[in-house]
Amino acid sequence: MKIAFVGKGGSGKTTLSALFIRHLAAAGCPVIAVDADINQHLGPALGLTDDQAAALPSLGAHLPEIKEYLRGSNPLIGSAEQMIKTTPPGRGSRLLRIVEDNPVYAACARPVALDEGSVRLLATGAFTEEDLGVACYHSKVGAVELLLNHLVDGQDEYFVTDMTAGSDSFASGLFTRFDLTFLVAEPTRKGVSVYRQYKEYARDFGVALKVVGNKVNGAEDLAFLRREVGEDLLTCFGQSDWVRRLEQGAEPELRTLEPANRAVLARLREQAELAFAARDPELWTSQAVHFHLRNAESWGNAKTGIDLADQVDAGFVLGAAQLDTAGV
Ligand SMILES: Nc1ncnc2c1ncn2[C@@H]1O[C@H](COP(=O)(O)OP(=O)(O)O)[C@@H](O)[C@H]1O
Ligand SMILES: [Mg+2]
Repeated sequence: MKIAFVGKGGSGKTTLSALFIRHLAAAGCPVIAVDADINQHLGPALGLTDDQAAALPSLGAHLPEIKEYLRGSNPLIGSAEQMIKTTPPGRGSRLLRIVEDNPVYAACARPVALDEGSVRLLATGAFTEEDLGVACYHSKVGAVELLLNHLVDGQDEYFVTDMTAGSDSFASGLFTRFDLTFLVAEPTRKGVSVYRQYKEYARDFGVALKVVGNKVNGAEDLAFLRREVGEDLLTCFGQSDWVRRLEQGAEPELRTLEPANRAVLARLREQAELAFAARDPELWTSQAVHFHLRNAESWGNAKTGIDLADQVDAGFVLGAAQLDTAGV
């Protein structure tokens, strides 16, 4: 399951993605956690010290190796240099599984032990607004898009990404690569306006988007979100003393999280399970191709000096067939 947490800065993306990751790990699900936010805070939110977090390898710095690995023996991709962030997989490409060892994880993923279970953590590396946008060949979030486009993941396996709702995700196809996107919104006009903007982009591509209210305190907050968001509002996480203790440097155990907030995490998981049933591999693959062609035309062809449309393996659909052979 490919899950994204998006929302405006400070809304609680990192807090809720870290808690969801811990909830999944506690249930025994294999999880790859991905920090793709401008402000790289997921490591510390999962309990790493600042030094450990600073020592995390960055996907951005390993992009050439990642491309070299993923292209495998795909005859349509002549070299790693000709591979851009939207280059889709085809026959001969190497696919990634959540549970496996591969050179990408060896170079970039680090295990993180939690109070219940453990996960592997990937980080894009810090980036600035200048790194963002369609014209940037070395876009760090581009590495995440490549991984997602080559990922074969089963029902109880999770790839959870802590992301911004910024222009970076719309510049490419990244925002369409998830089975489910949780938009974290505080019960404020700004929180809701980010939702509206995201919804606008998402609509044309059938992106499954659910709003998770955060720092919701009382009936009026709830009524506000219900009114502004309507049926896209999935559930609300309350203003939490437990989160505050965490923020103060305590290391509270997950099982001591307020029961109502723990129930919110369970609700997110249920929604993810529903999204699994709604997967459409053909549509998903065709969107990867769509964004690749768009990126090729707008900058990729000029950058690489070749026609990147030739990289599309028309008969290839990433989905059930590869899932059946996953781990073999
Ligand atoms: N439900 C909550 N209750 C109390 N504090 C919260 C809650 N959610 C987030 N916070 C606090 O709000 C701040 C911003 O949260 P964070 O997860 O870092 O946001 P983002 O990743 O969206 O920028 C942090 O100090 C965090 O501890
Ligand atoms: Mg954050």
